[in-house]
Amino acid sequence: MFKKKYLYYILPLFLMSSGTTMAQQYAVPSSSVVQTTSNKKEMDRFIKSLMSRMTLEEKIGQLSQYVGHDLLTGPQSEALSDSLLSKGAVGSILNIGGVQKIKKIQEKNMSVSRLKIPILFAYDVIHGYRTIFPTPLAEACSWDLDLMYETAKAASIEASASGIHWTFAPMVDIARDPRWGRVVEGAGEDTYLGCVIAQQRVKGFQWNLWQPNSVLACAKHFAAYGAPQAGRDYAPVDMSNSTLAEVYLPPYKACVDAGVQTFMAAFNDVNGLPAHGSKWLLTDILRKQWNFKGFVVSDWNGVQQLTTQGVVANDKGAAVLALNAGVDMNMTDGVYNKYLKEAVKDKEMSIDVINESVYRILAVKYKLGLFTDPYRFCDESREKKEIMSDNVMALARKAAQRSIVLLQNKDNILPLKSNVKKVALVGPLAANQAELLGSWKAFGLPNDVVSVQQGLKNKWNDKVVVNYAKGCDFAGEDTSGFDEAVKVAQESDVIIAVMGEKALMSGESRSRAKLNLPGVQEQLLERLAATGKPVVVVLMNGRPLVLTNVMKYSNAIIESWFLGTQTGNALADVLTGDYNPSAKLTTSFPQHEGQIPNYYNYKRSGRPGDMEHSSTVRHIDLKNANLFPFGFGLSYTTYKYDAPKCAPTFDSKGNLKVKVRVTNTGDVDGEEIVQLYVADKVASMVRPVKELKAFKKVFIAKKQSVEVELDVNAKDLGFYTNDMKYVVEPGEFTIMTGPNSEDLQTCSVRLNKAIE
Ligand code: NOJ
Repeated sequence: MFKKKYLYYILPLFLMSSGTTMAQQYAVPSSSVVQTTSNKKEMDRFIKSLMSRMTLEEKIGQLSQYVGHDLLTGPQSEALSDSLLSKGAVGSILNIGGVQKIKKIQEKNMSVSRLKIPILFAYDVIHGYRTIFPTPLAEACSWDLDLMYETAKAASIEASASGIHWTFAPMVDIARDPRWGRVVEGAGEDTYLGCVIAQQRVKGFQWNLWQPNSVLACAKHFAAYGAPQAGRDYAPVDMSNSTLAEVYLPPYKACVDAGVQTFMAAFNDVNGLPAHGSKWLLTDILRKQWNFKGFVVSDWNGVQQLTTQGVVANDKGAAVLALNAGVDMNMTDGVYNKYLKEAVKDKEMSIDVINESVYRILAVKYKLGLFTDPYRFCDESREKKEIMSDNVMALARKAAQRSIVLLQNKDNILPLKSNVKKVALVGPLAANQAELLGSWKAFGLPNDVVSVQQGLKNKWNDKVVVNYAKGCDFAGEDTSGFDEAVKVAQESDVIIAVMGEKALMSGESRSRAKLNLPGVQEQLLERLAATGKPVVVVLMNGRPLVLTNVMKYSNAIIESWFLGTQTGNALADVLTGDYNPSAKLTTSFPQHEGQIPNYYNYKRSGRPGDMEHSSTVRHIDLKNANLFPFGFGLSYTTYKYDAPKCAPTFDSKGNLKVKVRVTNTGDVDGEEIVQLYVADKVASMVRPVKELKAFKKVFIAKKQSVEVELDVNAKDLGFYTNDMKYVVEPGEFTIMTGPNSEDLQTCSVRLNKAIE
């Protein structure tokens, strides 16, 4: 006897079938879906059989994604409706979460659509689903790859327990411009780090691929979305092919190599070709060169926007261009459903192309086991158990601790000493919960968040008196709260000022031209500093800021980004020294916006240097240096680096081991991120002054030394020509090691012959 779930497929298909037996035609996947050759054949037979029964409209429906009711993350075009469901016009839905809601829609779909093809449910699970982890940029600063795997896995478990099949993450766009609001969603400015982090996140989200406790990942936004002109979101991207291939494309490729199942196209054009219409990017590079086998989804209305980008005259043209380029699924604007059938009739669109995309999407549904059980991810008891479990809470606290970067600590004011009995807790974010979730909070709730005020209370009980005064808001000119904040400050031993951006001052379409603390926060800080009491600034922000004034008016600066659910506890751990900060910046912090782009791995020039009164690459009114360089972060201990040691040449396989001795010279144990950079001394193209090529995060007990071994392979030291050809030229390379991208010691190595 068939179980009820099997009847969803078998019965309707049986009623339509003729000739062959039911068992022959409609072999249903087993519930434990592991890719083997035999079930690949089975899948192929199942999908082809199903497709042979689909009308053209139903096929196009599979290529169409509509937005659910939980969240609008863009302008709504066409609302999800029963009529779309009954036409079989909905292949996927985004922005609905929770077993009950998802089940209800799936049930509706299974009852009203003719072929009862299950819907694929997607959500932006970027840094957590209900338990919110640090924002991706924050967490990248931990340089802790295992941690990034674990948090992505935990988010995947929570989201899948809530009925979600697919997340639109990770965002792997390299971001070299802090004005761009979406810096917060990525790993920062470096390509090497961007690649290894991208892979961890893909593997974490897809930790148990095709099983109901794991979601599909989506590498986005393909390609080069992180390089919009002037840092304005959605703006055109114009760069050399060499830079595109070398700096921007590798993290997407790294995702393919890590097995990512889906890709999202980018809103921008790349050198004049909109990504949504670029066959070169989506088919030639992604599928043919990189061998990507999954499917590509558009970004929100990204297909229709081809008309506003001015490369097609109308929506029909947009649909044809995008699908031909390689956009399999059309998010939200509905233009595939509206125009592709007509395009086929008018011979502007080949049915073969449609079939290929339909197959890719059905294959994902098949492998997820949805044809066996459309409610495979809908288990309310699992939802209750997994959401905000104790383990996940502990992980969120650990992730938050490890993401905190200590930027300044004059006179070792931190950790707070035991003679601190009274603290003034000031600033718009000191008692706040909601903003601490950061951009993209999925189902994170403000009430779940441990505020800084609460975190200090949890830590100290009443042993230390904490007097709170907000002082001012994020934005606006209102200084009426200053006096109270100053009064509280005067009565304290230490001032903790929690300041920064509102969560939605970074993120999508949140570019900023001015990168100082918004509103009157810096004025408040000046007043607080004037009390003569030590000031510890705890920053919360989504991007690098210009901190020149903050440095001036403070003794210590803690960069905490947005740390999510466990913010207050993690910050209390760091403020009191229960956790010794170990994170380092993955983006450079400029002294002034005029320096942007200010990334560390800029190319060499003919007139280098920063000398006054001479013609060098510089501004006449500011030194070239960043305020805080890439890779920078302090600790409560200090480290001494010896010079690196390396062999004079790479070995026959191109390998090189670099050894560097690092000593913890302070009084507390710590973890240090040992970094290795490389510069090519002479090459046929101008090369960067240095590039990160390896790192290790190591524990070093107080007063102890460790010898850290870092591996480099010569094949990774090449570059792309403007024909996008990768070359590794022989010659001399400088190897640099140290605690950040500025403070480096060197050795030299020779590559005797080119690597093919
Ligand atoms: C637009 C964003 O660019 C993308 O990152 C996101 O996944 C979609 N909206 C869906 O919310």
